[in-house]
Amino acid sequence: MPQLDWANLGFQYRDTNSHIEFTWRDGAWDAGRLVSDPYLKLSIAASALHYGQAAFEGLKVFRCKDGKVRVFRPQANAERMQRTAVRTYMPPVPTEMFLDAINRVVLDNLDYIPPYGTGGSLYIRPLLIGSGAQIGVAPAHEYTFLILVTPAGNYYKGGLKPVKAIIYDEYDRAAPHGMGDVKVAGNYAASLFAHERAKKEGFPVELYLDAKTHTCVEEFATSNFIGIKKGVYVTPDSCSVLPSVTNNTLKQIAVDLGMPVETRPVHFDELKDFDEIAACGTAVVVTPVSTIVRGSTVINVPSGPDACGPVFEKLFHTVQGIQYGELPDQHNWCVEIK
Ligand SMILES: Cc1ncc(COP(=O)(O)O)c(C=O)c1O
Repeated sequence: MPQLDWANLGFQYRDTNSHIEFTWRDGAWDAGRLVSDPYLKLSIAASALHYGQAAFEGLKVFRCKDGKVRVFRPQANAERMQRTAVRTYMPPVPTEMFLDAINRVVLDNLDYIPPYGTGGSLYIRPLLIGSGAQIGVAPAHEYTFLILVTPAGNYYKGGLKPVKAIIYDEYDRAAPHGMGDVKVAGNYAASLFAHERAKKEGFPVELYLDAKTHTCVEEFATSNFIGIKKGVYVTPDSCSVLPSVTNNTLKQIAVDLGMPVETRPVHFDELKDFDEIAACGTAVVVTPVSTIVRGSTVINVPSGPDACGPVFEKLFHTVQGIQYGELPDQHNWCVEIK
């Protein structure tokens, strides 16, 4: 039994009992195995290292109120990873194999799932890489799919806390018809420089505009943009935004609550008219944004610097309630581990 301080886990990698690892060779995936060694033996010429054949996912497992363990919307992550695989010329992992792999690795790491009531979860990180040697620019002949798990703490111990966001016109995240809509490792390399600069300048998140015209809002480096305008849930429509499972979930809950939802281009000039703005993603569900800075322009969101706006507060608690089994799961999003 690991000795973990559940209340202060934060979000950092910790070794666990095992990860699960599969190899694709000669056109087929093997049956996979649980591996306790947290290191890979990889060819120094692996295509993941040289040519960026690397895709990942992120999702969570919760210990619920009834004591059962459930994973949130794993089919959605399986399908997104399949799209990323096709786009980067890697063999897609079939949904059934993806779900079975989660089940096996979580069962081997039950001790690492934070107890119900701590606000924590077990973070699941599926990774697909070209592991075969490939010296000319071409797809590899061998691939590795693995899932690592690591316990994650409650991000909002004192309630949802708004953050300040910055837009830098000198950096773009993804080009139109590039790879912004899939979860490929290179997208994150593209955002690291701006992200570290933003943090140093006092902005926990940076917001990207469309790379072609810099007139429309796209998304944050690791989360989608969502806003509330006159009671309408609004999120950008763009071919270079990652389709977020959380955003999709929040949209459905908004519809269930009777709110209109608009997925459409969001002009930068429109930001000043929003009542609430937030970033959304698996890691923390909703991060309220209080201020957006672009050069000398400062947009202060009416929900203010100290608290989340009422709509996102409600949506946040609804998602968490479903994830921890406190509210009915009417869309069958939660899959029990057994
Ligand atoms: C670029 C980007 N946008 C949005 C998201 C949020 O997606 P999800 O809600 O599926 O975690 C993520 C995180 O996966 C991301 O990396």
